[in-house]
Amino acid sequence: MLKTLDELEKEAILELPGATSEDALNELRTRYLGRKGLLTQMLRQISTVTAAEKPLFGKRSNEIKESLAHAIDDALEMLKASRKDQVLLKETIDVTLPGRGVRLGRLHPVTRVSQEICRIFSRMGFNVVEGPEVETDYYNFEALNIPKDHPARDMQDTFYVEDNIVLRTHTSPVQIRTMEKMKPPVRILSPGRVYRPDSDVSHTPMFHQVEGLMVDKGITFGDLKGTLTYFLRQIFGADILLRFRPSFFPFTEPSAEVDLRCVMCTGKGCRVCGQSGWLEILGSGMVDPAVFENVGYDPEEVTGFAFGLGVERIAMLKYGISDIRLFFENDGRFLEQF
Ligand code: FA5
Ligand code: MG
Repeated sequence: MLKTLDELEKEAILELPGATSEDALNELRTRYLGRKGLLTQMLRQISTVTAAEKPLFGKRSNEIKESLAHAIDDALEMLKASRKDQVLLKETIDVTLPGRGVRLGRLHPVTRVSQEICRIFSRMGFNVVEGPEVETDYYNFEALNIPKDHPARDMQDTFYVEDNIVLRTHTSPVQIRTMEKMKPPVRILSPGRVYRPDSDVSHTPMFHQVEGLMVDKGITFGDLKGTLTYFLRQIFGADILLRFRPSFFPFTEPSAEVDLRCVMCTGKGCRVCGQSGWLEILGSGMVDPAVFENVGYDPEEVTGFAFGLGVERIAMLKYGISDIRLFFENDGRFLEQF
């Protein structure tokens, strides 16, 4: 019997190194020391042992029980410790490595130019106001003297949301919304997004305009020219080449568009300026008396001028960018340069 006890111990000791997981060790414990375990079963046979052998048998089996339990406990301890080591090893931080920098964000060039425009006009006493991008037919067209079915509607292709609701094609509806709310004198500026189904090197379906409006007694076309020329010299420098070109808008009379010398070809003619040597940056004119009547101003009493600037066009000329669509491709390499 003692011999079988010794054999059992030897077997258990041989098996121990093979149990390399917590589960395997627990299984080993149950198999030898559990209630139905091998050692327990052997102890039950104590009745078959001779009286002389009994004390030694009891002593040996207790020794085996204890040493096996200890060995299993130790193995479990070691397993836990080595797992901790592995985790620590995996989480090691090499404090001598150079840091991973966070790339700095910056304002989009269109935002920067838009803010610069607002700053220059603010110094001339213009206040910034905003209007909705989803606009009614009335404010976008009708109140601006562009009746339904009038051929002037073809000047600005339009995204329709519903029958009488459009994505505004220009910032001019803000003129109407402002004059409805306040009496002259008026001196406002309104930056924002506008939409037209257009796309080529100098047109995008969404772009930015800044609207300006000045109404008071005795405002003249000379004020318009002076204000816009001063503004353009502030933004591009005193030796900028610009021209006022007679034009037509239903809401201004007379009307003029302003072109700047194309910086891409210095006037020789290229793809960007459509071979003309000039790039159109704004529309302007003296507010049409019909518009004043629509908002309840007396055209005999006050006069005024208005303008609508293309912000991307100004940014193109300022930074020498030959394709307007680059502004909206979100390429970090392009945007990082500003
Ligand atoms: C207008 O939108 C008039 N509302 C401007 C105005 C306001 C006239 C007040 C009189 C009084 P126009 O369609 O020309 O005008 O557009 C004005 C400017 O927006 C253009 O000179 C050009 O610089 C810019 N622009 C027009 N279409 C696009 C486009 N698809 N992409 C980028 N810029 C554009
Ligand atoms: Mg135009």
